[in-house]
Amino acid sequence: MTIPSVKIAPSLLSADFVRLAQDVAAVEDAGADWLHVDVMDGHFVPNLTIGLPVVKALKATARRPLDVHIMISNPVEYAERYVEAGADILTCHVETEPEALDAIRAAGGRAGLAVNPETPIDPVRELLDRLDMVLVMSVHPGFGGQSFMPEVLPKIEQLRNWGYEGDVEIDGGISPKTIGDAAAAGANVFVSGSGVFGADDWAATIASMRRTAEQRLGVNV
Ligand code: DX5
Ligand code: ZN
Repeated sequence: MTIPSVKIAPSLLSADFVRLAQDVAAVEDAGADWLHVDVMDGHFVPNLTIGLPVVKALKATARRPLDVHIMISNPVEYAERYVEAGADILTCHVETEPEALDAIRAAGGRAGLAVNPETPIDPVRELLDRLDMVLVMSVHPGFGGQSFMPEVLPKIEQLRNWGYEGDVEIDGGISPKTIGDAAAAGANVFVSGSGVFGADDWAATIASMRRTAEQRLGVNV
């Protein structure tokens, strides 16, 4: 099977929000492929972050694609607005309204579907031709800096064993230490918030994660 190329997507949740444009430029210069943007509504998840105005502002300054992860209860209502604000790929949660996938594509975006740690992967199988990426959560969504949950990795192997050859993103607790096992399971897009922004040398950290991921990509599938 062919797995798409490795992409490193630093999560801006761990950036300095007062200096967001500078951190975006610096992390792009350090080798980020995508910029991961966490939108939380204080309802689907127990935290509130940023919304449409900040996505729009990011789009005006970013040179890399915006990978916008909406942890909100009502993605159908907001799908078109986030695509118009600048989300290149927009990921909603299967636990909310998976029909938002169609609204995202209709608005011209690439559609992602996220799966929480306790949610089984089986219901995603019949949605695979309506989406462009599956995001497997490796922490309970809501906060950066949590520990990686290796028990979610069989879901990624399952996706690849079904023959799914699209992007599979993993989000939560990804660092140079944990990225190898996620890549071996078949993930090719790696979100890392505290793992990148908490490091002294962002470029060296991204390069080391990329090297490890490329070496281990798909070895278990
Ligand atoms: C968690 C968010 C993640 C978070 C990852 O709800 O979806 O994107 O920013 O942060 P780290 O990499 O620190 O676990
Ligand atoms: Zn996220």
